[in-house]
Amino acid sequence: MLGANMNSRKPLIAGNWKMFKTCEEAVETARQLVKLVADDTVDVMIAPAFTSLMPVSDVVKGSCVALGAQNLFWEPEGAYTGEISSGMLVSAGCSYVIIGHSERRQYFGETDLTVNKKIKAAIKDNLMPVVCVGESEKERESNHTFSVLDKQVEKGLESLTLNDLETLIIAYEPIWAIGTGKTATSKQAQEVHKYLRLLIKKKFGNNLADSIRILYGGSVKPDNIKELMLMPDVDGALVGGASLKAETFSKIINFQI
Ligand code: PGA
Repeated sequence: MLGANMNSRKPLIAGNWKMFKTCEEAVETARQLVKLVADDTVDVMIAPAFTSLMPVSDVVKGSCVALGAQNLFWEPEGAYTGEISSGMLVSAGCSYVIIGHSERRQYFGETDLTVNKKIKAAIKDNLMPVVCVGESEKERESNHTFSVLDKQVEKGLESLTLNDLETLIIAYEPIWAIGTGKTATSKQAQEVHKYLRLLIKKKFGNNLADSIRILYGGSVKPDNIKELMLMPDVDGALVGGASLKAETFSKIINFQI
């Protein structure tokens, strides 16, 4: 039996399109995907670039595919050239937003503090945050995986209430597995997911620990998704490269078939 089916957590398969695809390409991929995904036993989300949100929103409206953004800024509006607010994302049709992806932490200076502010802004506007955490290869090799996650969870979720966290999703993305073809083994993923759930339990109690969805991300492909989803604490996946082609991504979404 598949892990996520043993509890009340509905799996979520999310596609992070990163800085790929023009509007036309994004619309075309979304069109193909909508045709391939009919099963609503799994939640599906795609996160195209900001410029494609509106046109893709028209394509996925009324389908099983939800729309997410890859980032947001925490202020509702103002003189912040180049930034996008949560209200703008909602008006473009988003229901999810990815926050604190390791590429944003690495290249754009995001910290646990900015992640925390972004989560709060998202929740205020009823966007479901997909909050990314994960260790680097060096941190794993020096046995710091759990302490890195402790800090990311502690600071990232600071001063959030149980109510706030109702729709929050955690994505465990070991940096060494992103775009490298080196997936964590299902055993490695399960070990960390279990640890993260325990952290949530200690901080926020049993109910949230039981209901919060924890996704795995890092080189997820059609041929490893099943094994990952067999793990009791893996509730879905955040998929980069393999989400760019509708056919490949649909194979990941339809992992139960
Ligand atoms: P990948 O990316 O699937 O290409 O490894 C995952 C991610 O960055 O979310």
